[in-house]
Amino acid sequence: MAPARGNGIRRLLRDVPVFAGSAPGFDPSSAPDEPLELFEEWLRQAVEAGVSEPHAAVVATADAGGSPSARVLILKDADERGFSFATPSSSRKGRELAQRPEAAMVFHWREQARQIRLRGPVLIGTPEENALDFRERSPEGRAAGMHGRQSAPLGDPDEVARAFEEGLAAVEADPEVVPSSWALYRLVPMEAEFWQGHPQRLHTRLHFTRSSIDDAWKRELLWP
Ligand SMILES: Cc1cc2nc3c(=O)[nH]c(=O)nc-3n(C[C@H](O)[C@H](O)[C@H](O)COP(=O)(O)O)c2cc1C
Repeated sequence: MAPARGNGIRRLLRDVPVFAGSAPGFDPSSAPDEPLELFEEWLRQAVEAGVSEPHAAVVATADAGGSPSARVLILKDADERGFSFATPSSSRKGRELAQRPEAAMVFHWREQARQIRLRGPVLIGTPEENALDFRERSPEGRAAGMHGRQSAPLGDPDEVARAFEEGLAAVEADPEVVPSSWALYRLVPMEAEFWQGHPQRLHTRLHFTRSSIDDAWKRELLWP
């Protein structure tokens, strides 16, 4: 193996502070019994505190062999049915979800030293739900989503601009048009964890579990 190059990255990393945000208080004993309610409470606090892109979450999926892959997606909604995100079903994540319909989702609100983790099965929306999500997107968003080729190898970068122009024309010709690949997915949490960071590492972790969507949530604290 070639000798390791200088340790520039290591040095850079050592000088970067962590948990530098201003941590709001979190008292798990007075937290709601339902993760969804606590999520809404924390999301509202994040929005009010000006957290950058609090609706951006890392979503991890795995292929049939169990190899994981993760990427950032925008949370479109959250209710009793689950936490939803939208993407082409033909993308890598869409193909993985078809093979293994389960995922993990992580929000990191660094300005508040907060992390929320969710895990559970993933359901694909009905054709009506998929269509509604697509039609609510901006014309540019719809134009970009029309080609359905996300995650496919790209030979010529100019093809992206051409596909966008074609998508724009298709959307202008028929504002109701929906590509067959567009999908709204819902992660149905069976596990949820709310993590509040602390500058002296006295972090707080509130963990919820249930074994089915009809079960009551159980809650416990976890060692940080
Ligand atoms: C802040 C942010 C938000 C994103 N939102 C979405 C999204 O809502 N839907 C989507 O398909 N890709 C979104 N992406 C792009 C994905 O991270 C990813 O590159 C793309 O979905 C392809 O993933 P895949 O190859 O694993 O299927 C977003 C990226 C970032 C950085």
